[in-house]
Amino acid sequence: MRVLILGGDGYLGWPTAMHLTTQGHDVVVVDNYLRRRLCREENVGPLFEVPNLHERVRIWESASGYKIPVFIGDLTQWDFVQEVFTSFTPEGIVHYAEQPAAPYSMLNRRAASLTLQNNLMVTANVIFAVREFSPEAHIVKIGTMGEYGTPNIDIEEGWLEVEHKGRRHTFLYPRQASSLYHTTKIMDTDLLWFYVRMWDLRVTDLMQGPVYGLFTDENEEHQSLLPFFNYDELFGTVLNRFVVQAVVGYPLTVYGKGGQTRGYLNIKDTLQCVRLSLEKPSDNGRLRIFNQFVETFSVNDLACKVQQVGSQLGLNVSIQSVENPRIEAEDHYYNPANTGLLDLGLEPHYLTDEVLAEMIEAVLKHRHRIQEHQIYRKIKWA
Ligand SMILES: NC(=O)c1ccc[n+]([C@@H]2O[C@H](COP(=O)([O-])OP(=O)(O)OC[C@H]3O[C@@H](n4cnc5c(N)ncnc54)[C@H](O)[C@@H]3O)[C@@H](O)[C@H]2O)c1
Repeated sequence: MRVLILGGDGYLGWPTAMHLTTQGHDVVVVDNYLRRRLCREENVGPLFEVPNLHERVRIWESASGYKIPVFIGDLTQWDFVQEVFTSFTPEGIVHYAEQPAAPYSMLNRRAASLTLQNNLMVTANVIFAVREFSPEAHIVKIGTMGEYGTPNIDIEEGWLEVEHKGRRHTFLYPRQASSLYHTTKIMDTDLLWFYVRMWDLRVTDLMQGPVYGLFTDENEEHQSLLPFFNYDELFGTVLNRFVVQAVVGYPLTVYGKGGQTRGYLNIKDTLQCVRLSLEKPSDNGRLRIFNQFVETFSVNDLACKVQQVGSQLGLNVSIQSVENPRIEAEDHYYNPANTGLLDLGLEPHYLTDEVLAEMIEAVLKHRHRIQEHQIYRKIKWA
């Protein structure tokens, strides 16, 4: 299959690109280095340096023999989108290209505005380009479990059948996000659903939970092919951050009561879910939604696991509740469904002690690069 990966330089985009080439797909990656630029502007950096996209494809070609063409440019700009879609007509599109950090989106008006404009414009341009240049292409969009929020009822996979005054109708599951970033994902879903109805597009929207980990089958042997690994409070995700905190002896920063529960997955499972969605596409005129996570944990559960495995490795790990910079429920009901991707063939990787120990050992190798002042600057959500 000819697959366009939008956001191909990112934490998930680059591992996905390598993985799909090994599965026999023709892959092209597109990125404008927005993630790298925002990190530089906010003075936060990854745990280790990551080569630029041109370098990464060169290293991957010499390691594997697979070639991945690169387009560098901004997908909010129609001229660039047109150039990409006329040079390479995709059968599948993986849309990762967004500003993905909830805390960044809540930093100030400028960050909020960038997040809104970037995320919605890229999604709209992808839709317009598919209609104009490759109407049969299947869009695999990465949404987030955060679109649903934490309602006091079970979370279904995307849709809810409602009975009202004796009549029934199926609606998009009600969504109520707790950050502007998550709200842009809700708006993306609405845009996609609108154009699925208008133009018969075929779309899979993956409601993904927070991803953890570094290693995939393609990068285990090559340090220079590893993805970004942020551990700061703007761009780092919770488990990756806790592992770094454990390694440097920084008390694990549990926000508030720590009862915030979410569905998590290993980066290896993101690659599987995206590949399975591409290879078994949605029908025309259908918005297919899957909840993309493997198991649920509270923040306290994660902190305890990191403490336990860290101690087994000789680290002195403590846990500290800090003032929650976010506006969110710290103790709530959470029961989301996740059978759709399992039915497609997902074989989950679970967060075992071995997996956690492997992450801690990988981070220990870069311990000298950890800048403690990046870990917790007490940035409040504005
Ligand atoms: N990482 C997670 O835990 C997680 C969880 C749920 C959902 N997601 C979603 O998955 C997707 C990928 O996440 P990630 O962690 O890899 O983020 P990332 O920031 O590492 O990757 C996104 C990539 O898109 C690029 N990009 C953004 N705007 C662009 C534009 N206008 N033109 C061209 N390129 C652009 C960025 O430079 C970056 O390389 C995002 O949409 C994110 O919201 C991620």
